[in-house]
Amino acid sequence: MGVTADKLKAFEERRDSLLSMGGDKMIDKQHSLGKLTARERIDLFFDKGTFQEIQLFVKTRSTLFGLGEKDIKADGVITGFGKVNGRTVFASFQDFTSAGGSLGEMHAKKIWKVMDMALDARKPFVAFNDSGGARIQEGVPSLDGYGGIFYRNTIGSGYIPQITAIMGPTAGGAVYSPALTDWVFMVKGSSYMYITGPDVIKAVIGEEVTHDELGGAIAHASKSGVCHFATENDEDCINRIKTLLSYLPDSCHSPLPIADCTDSPDRECPELDTIIPDRATRSYDMRKIVIAVADNNEIVEPHELWAPNILVAFIRIMGRPVGVIANNPKAFAGVLDTKASDKASRFIRFCDAFNIPLLTFADVPGYMPGTEQEWAGIISHGAKLLHVYSEATVPKITVVTRKDYGGAYIGMCSKQLGSDYVMAWPSAEIAVMGAEGACNIIYRREINSADDPAAKRKELVAAYEEQFNNPYFAASMGIIEEVIAPRETRKRVTVILDALKDKSETRPERKHNNIPL
Ligand code: HXC
Repeated sequence: MGVTADKLKAFEERRDSLLSMGGDKMIDKQHSLGKLTARERIDLFFDKGTFQEIQLFVKTRSTLFGLGEKDIKADGVITGFGKVNGRTVFASFQDFTSAGGSLGEMHAKKIWKVMDMALDARKPFVAFNDSGGARIQEGVPSLDGYGGIFYRNTIGSGYIPQITAIMGPTAGGAVYSPALTDWVFMVKGSSYMYITGPDVIKAVIGEEVTHDELGGAIAHASKSGVCHFATENDEDCINRIKTLLSYLPDSCHSPLPIADCTDSPDRECPELDTIIPDRATRSYDMRKIVIAVADNNEIVEPHELWAPNILVAFIRIMGRPVGVIANNPKAFAGVLDTKASDKASRFIRFCDAFNIPLLTFADVPGYMPGTEQEWAGIISHGAKLLHVYSEATVPKITVVTRKDYGGAYIGMCSKQLGSDYVMAWPSAEIAVMGAEGACNIIYRREINSADDPAAKRKELVAAYEEQFNNPYFAASMGIIEEVIAPRETRKRVTVILDALKDKSETRPERKHNNIPL
């Protein structure tokens, strides 16, 4: 019979009806909340005309609790692939206008399919979440659906980059797919995530809290660390995901994306010669050093508001992506605590999984002392940092700008954790501990029995500083490779990264290691 005009018309009507999502009223409601619809998000995310939708005709099989009479367009989720700045990316977009983007059996199976395609094709996967959670009418198949997503998130971990954009509600177990992905973006004011909402919290523990205070973008970006990027609105969120993708390879087996570089490999950074304050107790902003060294002074910084005592960022050096980890003396003197250790460790693992070289800047007084940190498990959290630096096989470069004391010296990618090249500025102090504390311990008797204890302490501290509080003792023993002028940092990093770009290192064969989680 062929494709008759009637058949073609019927097909087009059916398709157009599905493409219309939840109808004008629901679309207006979506807009009134300051949110774009799933299809508007698709238009912003993918290069014009490149989106290829899959499984548009899928619908729920459930007829329970009135679902048989409901017409949930595309079963509440749009899936497919397209080009983002010319590179293929797979994605799912939950459509809140269709049954609140709730996730039932077939909705989940559409997401499984597009995730399976991303895994087979070895391309990044991005989930745009905007959903009331498990479709209550369907019952356990909804939970089964989430289980299949969590499984695929885990199988894909370290294999393809996975990103979640929270662009509406995300409640209950639905929060765990985002947590399993590499990067979580949220939109201020219109997105929230939590295990249980304000009503249940009030009923169970009597605590009163709003949706936003409990699980809004700022709460998760500054308090829990679940959110890596708190964005201004849907458009900002989508643009920032695209920027992040430009730093990431398609998969762990793909080459790094190399950007055209207009910066110079020989550029000096004279402003760095004066950035370290005269007094050791004064702080400065490590971000300025990272920005100075980066191509065109551009950085992408996840977790900007969480654990600010350590900074992690993606930069490019001569067009090649690099992951930066840096203590920031501007916050809590740059000390390592449980959060800072977790933040840096997950970042380092991501970079290593995707072959992104690591550049570490150290200025760290030590691990944070005190009962709060000890009882919060600073021992195991701090151990993560030792573990991840040691297991990382990508090129690793370390620059010591000032203090690098004790266990934290080791933790910030020292030579014995496998740093390929350690450099120090003349202001570096590489020692077991600060001079005052050291002299109080090793010279307690001499100081106490001296005629003038204060003068004696001063004399002994000066001698200790002369011996240890400089980079030359470490350099004389080859524990660091070089002492450099701060202004030369970008030049040196560029040349060393270039030399190490084909670095290859192996580890003993095993099922997997056992990181202290
Ligand atoms: C079925 C749902 C739904 C759900 C929303 N809808 N959530 N349908 N299952 N989970 C439907 C509504 O019935 C409504 O349909 C439409 O979506 C829009 O929802 P509204 O309530 O009108 O929207 P709004 O006022 O903006 O409120 C949004 C909301 C609320 C706060 C998200 O819908 C809500 O509280 N939903 C339930 C949240 C929840 O408890 N989910 C289950 C979590 S447990 P009509 O037909 O009227 O347009 C969970 C377990 C997962 O997810 C475990 C995984 C391991």
